[in-house]
Amino acid sequence: MTSPTGPGRARQTEIYRGGALGRRPAVPADFAGLEEAAQQVSSDVAWAYVAGGAGEGRTMRNNRAAFERWAIVPRMLHGNLTRDLSLDLLGTRLPAPVLLAPVGAGALMGADSDVKIARAAASQGLPYVFSHQGCNPMEETAAAMGETPRWVQLYWSTDEDLVDSTIQRAEAIGAGALVVTLDTTMLGWRPQDLTLGSLPFSQGIGIAQYTSDPHFTEVVRARTASKDKQDVQVTLGAIRTLLSMTRQYPGRFLANLRSPEPRAAVETFLDIYSNPGLSWEHLATLRERTRLPVVLKGILHPDDAQRALDAGVDAVVVSNHGGRQVDNAIASLDALIAIRERVGAEATLLLDSGIRTGADVFTALALGADAVLLGRPYMYGLALAGERGVAEVLANVVAELDLTMALAGAADLDAITRDLVVPNPSYRW
Ligand SMILES: Cc1cc2nc3c(=O)[nH]c(=O)nc-3n(C[C@H](O)[C@H](O)[C@H](O)COP(=O)(O)O)c2cc1C
Repeated sequence: MTSPTGPGRARQTEIYRGGALGRRPAVPADFAGLEEAAQQVSSDVAWAYVAGGAGEGRTMRNNRAAFERWAIVPRMLHGNLTRDLSLDLLGTRLPAPVLLAPVGAGALMGADSDVKIARAAASQGLPYVFSHQGCNPMEETAAAMGETPRWVQLYWSTDEDLVDSTIQRAEAIGAGALVVTLDTTMLGWRPQDLTLGSLPFSQGIGIAQYTSDPHFTEVVRARTASKDKQDVQVTLGAIRTLLSMTRQYPGRFLANLRSPEPRAAVETFLDIYSNPGLSWEHLATLRERTRLPVVLKGILHPDDAQRALDAGVDAVVVSNHGGRQVDNAIASLDALIAIRERVGAEATLLLDSGIRTGADVFTALALGADAVLLGRPYMYGLALAGERGVAEVLANVVAELDLTMALAGAADLDAITRDLVVPNPSYRW
């Protein structure tokens, strides 16, 4: 006899068994509770950066509203006892269509953030896309996740040698893909951070991929050798910033405190980290620069998606960066529908921005995504309970996807078809 197992039932059993012994899960099981609890344990500065968005927050709201505008229509008496959530993505078999999005400056929500996230991803067998603005060197993060797939995200620097160096490191750590983020050639207008005058990178938080890079280090040393000492106004804030930069910089604290390098590294980073002039011509050079599959992240227009695929990229992430770049931008889910229509069924399309639950993953797949990336939800798990918090958030999302499939009649991901969702008759415009 086959029993109706699967990640949904397994997670429920784990939680309810624990509950019978008086143990509660480390994170609330609903997103609103998760968000509220995470805010309570986060500093103002950390919350502004992680939860904040562009302008008046309309893109973040659009992302959620787009999900509310669709409703799932479950089918009955399908007789499926088990589900298969696995898929092939860029040549790798994954247990579920969920990846961890690249999220920079994670240390705001807990020390050694990227290593903890990597371990949690590995515990669930889900791929982790390392952020170029990460807080641990990619080699250290990769070492924490065994054979579990890792992809590396790239912000295209104005220093082309740094681009090459980052690609070489990504290849050396066994990355399954290079994810080039297109939507952040400059930072968007982010009032939550601006109101506090706070940018993590200027404190040295989120520049570990740079300070661990041999080429970047050379550039910093050349800068400290050639530059005259600059006068800095000595304020309490300036001292705090200096201490933070010093702590974040590789090496011993006291040696760093005497060295001009931590500050020069921050200045160098701010000068070169992204190229506002990024164009299709830059991207065309990638094929000669790497053997890795190339994924473009941050596409919203069908013409851009088509052009990317025509240029030979392996996949596109339909994303508005979690609503952090352009205020009142189109919801990723709405963009996905138009893009899938344009590029056809064969193209590999991923989606992020606004995914909060397993039911959201189901809706995204029904509307044309092959897989999704989660951003803030797992960061909130990190804030609440470190590695365990991240693992629980991931397990909960996959569990709910499995249960939604079970209850809606989809035995595998291919069975999550467009006819299982309809425009939500209960949505109030
Ligand atoms: C705090 C924070 C930092 C981020 N840093 C990066 C980054 O370094 N690189 C990148 O490509 N995207 C970055 N993103 C965007 C995410 O990869 C992803 O697109 C977004 O979080 C998905 O939306 P969601 O948070 O609504 O799930 C960041 C998002 C957040 C919330």
